[in-house]
Amino acid sequence: MRVLVVGGGGREHAVIRKLRENPEITEIFALPGNAGMRKEAVCVPIGAKDIPAIVNFARDEQIDYAVVTPDDPLVLGCVDALEALGIPCFGPRANAAVIEGSKVFSKNLMKKYGIPTAKYESFDDLEEALRYLETAPLPTVVKADGLALGKGVIIAQTREEAEAAVTDMMQGRKFGKSGERIVIEEFLEGPEVSVLAFTDGKAMVPMVSSMDHKRAGDGDTGLNTGGMGTVAPNPYYTPAIAEQCMQEIFLPTMAAMNAEGRTFRGCLYFGLMLTKDGPKVIEYNCRFGDPETQVVLPLLESDLFTVMRAVTEGRLSETEVRFSDKAACCVILASKGYPGSYEKGFPLDIPEAVEKQVYVAGAKMKDGVLVTDGGRIAGCTAVAESLADAIRDAYKIAEQVHFENAYCRRDIGQRALQARREQ
Ligand code: AMP
Ligand code: GLY
Repeated sequence: MRVLVVGGGGREHAVIRKLRENPEITEIFALPGNAGMRKEAVCVPIGAKDIPAIVNFARDEQIDYAVVTPDDPLVLGCVDALEALGIPCFGPRANAAVIEGSKVFSKNLMKKYGIPTAKYESFDDLEEALRYLETAPLPTVVKADGLALGKGVIIAQTREEAEAAVTDMMQGRKFGKSGERIVIEEFLEGPEVSVLAFTDGKAMVPMVSSMDHKRAGDGDTGLNTGGMGTVAPNPYYTPAIAEQCMQEIFLPTMAAMNAEGRTFRGCLYFGLMLTKDGPKVIEYNCRFGDPETQVVLPLLESDLFTVMRAVTEGRLSETEVRFSDKAACCVILASKGYPGSYEKGFPLDIPEAVEKQVYVAGAKMKDGVLVTDGGRIAGCTAVAESLADAIRDAYKIAEQVHFENAYCRRDIGQRALQARREQ
């Protein structure tokens, strides 16, 4: 089997490493991939958003199966285009990927089908949005409608901040077209949980829960990033809450998408907040999370390729999806300055002893040497019997990976450990 994976970050590295466990797969092509995964996949310099080039490549190389993981190509219809060639895919079609591609769509879906989420109003007119803010309770949350690299959410503490965010998005076009429409929503409080779920539109199979650390600095300070580390499972996500989420959120979302004629097949990501009024949806993503995938897939005991094909073929309910009851921790090593400006091109040393526990997010070859190439560079990931051990081991791995100007948060998993102790 010749498999194509669209994307090139740490998440894709985790997917590729897991796929390689299946002996039927003879070759994996990563488009574009990154040089840190060159031993596990053939990296082809085709951008993840270049749908025509992806389609040509898949045709010319007689690809048997495609996995599309990033949000952009999914929203742009990469799966639709590959399926039109007869290539089976893992990932939703564009009409279902809209669940992430438009916050207005997802908020309206939740309202229509009674799925718990923050109260909201959506706007495509600046004056109306500003008028609404005059009486909106504070803090208030302003979200760009479309994709914005995870940066389209502003939590405004004051009316002035809220007005500035709205004006930047709608008039200043800070996020381009993505900010032409916006959502203003109620500020919610409580622990956050990420749940990725396999679904084929008939069955919904949640994976082990996880916790992201989105802010750049220790103690959840500093700017929002793509994610500085993760742990799994998330101790706040008890079996009782999991059951409640299944009944009130996961199954109703699947049914809602079916009822709208937008059956979702792939990995649906539920970003949840456990409020005092019960679990609520903060966001949906139409794909595996990054860096959630780096802790979730190492705990998957079943064969990933088998599960993915079952999703594609609508056989998920007959397929075993088993997770280990161990714990995992991923510590991201990033370039100093990220998510702001940073230098790159420094030699990246990953000793062979830890190579299998590192997912490379940003690297390229320069004069025969692996060098850093991005903000997030490496996800150092450990699996252990306990969460405390997984955290300790992940930091030990991180100590062995070297590049100039590296930084990581020192407190990945500490809040989870604290929660576990209090239980
Ligand atoms: P999103 O990109 O929608 O996941 O939002 C990024 C982050 O902003 C989330 O992980 C939350 O921490 C925070 N956030 C988003 N919406 C809300 C909300 N309604 N209330 C409080 N925090 C929120
Ligand atoms: N880690 C959050 C995301 O993938 O959107």
